[in-house]
Amino acid sequence: MSHFASVARVPGDPILSLMQAYLLDTHPARLDLGVGVYKDAQGLTPIPRAVKLAEQRLVDSELSKTYIGGHGDALFAERLSQLVLGADSPLLAERRAGATQTPGGTGALRLAADFIRHCLPGRGIWLSDPTWPIHETLFAEAGLVVGHYPYVDSNNRLDVEAMIGAFTHLPKGDVVLLHACCHNPTGFDLTQQDFERVLEVVKARELLPLIDFAYQGFGDGLEQDAWAVRLCAAELPELLITSSCSKNFGLYRERTGALIVCAADAEKLVDIRSQLAFIARNLWSTPPAHGAAVVASILGDDELKCLWQEELEDMRLRVASLRRGLVEALAPHGLSQRFAHIAEQRGMFSYTGLSPLQVLRLREAFSIYLVGSGRANVAGLDANRLEYLAAAIAQVCN
Ligand code: LMR
Repeated sequence: MSHFASVARVPGDPILSLMQAYLLDTHPARLDLGVGVYKDAQGLTPIPRAVKLAEQRLVDSELSKTYIGGHGDALFAERLSQLVLGADSPLLAERRAGATQTPGGTGALRLAADFIRHCLPGRGIWLSDPTWPIHETLFAEAGLVVGHYPYVDSNNRLDVEAMIGAFTHLPKGDVVLLHACCHNPTGFDLTQQDFERVLEVVKARELLPLIDFAYQGFGDGLEQDAWAVRLCAAELPELLITSSCSKNFGLYRERTGALIVCAADAEKLVDIRSQLAFIARNLWSTPPAHGAAVVASILGDDELKCLWQEELEDMRLRVASLRRGLVEALAPHGLSQRFAHIAEQRGMFSYTGLSPLQVLRLREAFSIYLVGSGRANVAGLDANRLEYLAAAIAQVCN
């Protein structure tokens, strides 16, 4: 008897499998706009200097590799919470908010998913249509009932009215996943005014927001990008936030993130954190230490923090200029109007509006890799390749 005979093969991950396909591609002009990693002008995903310096200090000073606790590195948790909620957050002063360190933002999402299933049974979760594909599978795998609210219309434009309309019909008490900034995959963010309208419905329907905050610093700036999170924290008694250090600290493979819970009072937060520690113990036991120690060290040192902020700002500005550059490069092809949204979107990604068939043609004829949904990682672009990309887009659009 074969124990494994009935194990079927499933398709590769829609995003990570692109990395592999790109590496195997020998076309000299290949272009990787798939997975969301930042690349510099040399096409490398750099380790920020602030990270290198912090790592060097850690190597010199680290005395032990023993486990860190279930909630992870306490200094990391404290400093990351301040970065997300604001150094002067009343929630932190009142001990109503606390972070549990997780293996990356994905770990934070999984911890949140399991917390909802264990502790808030019967609550469904609502995702924007579209959203990061792993949101879809992660919550379903955790046993939650997943629903969708509209986010973009058929013309590839943000549809706030449809979103708000859908929210008014959501079951009371359900969870809504919101993207704090730099919406993945679309790059379309709500204005503050529209977000406030959404928040009114969230309150009226007594919905619980789970805010995915994976791109702090890539939209309008480190502090500016936190406004939606901080507004929710100020206006709602309870909130879940997942924070990732993959992109803004360039710590992708170190799997550094946190689930931040805001509770009605300090006593309730202790109850919730006891559950999180239990769930995390059964998922990964204790989180990996290195990335969190690096982040804690940077955020706790004025000089390193300043250096990191400058480096992050350089990345943000470079992506913004690549967005404008691509729209300019499309102009000679008569396509700058059609793709004007690329310059207006925020963060690493652009929902280009290219169809799956056009994405396939880009890949087959030009070795240009986008996610099948038409998402391009603008942060993977190279200023010298904008004309190549624009010409290829023009070809597949004709
Ligand atoms: C992405 O959306 O490309 C990134 O968040 C990386 C990932 O894990 O999918």
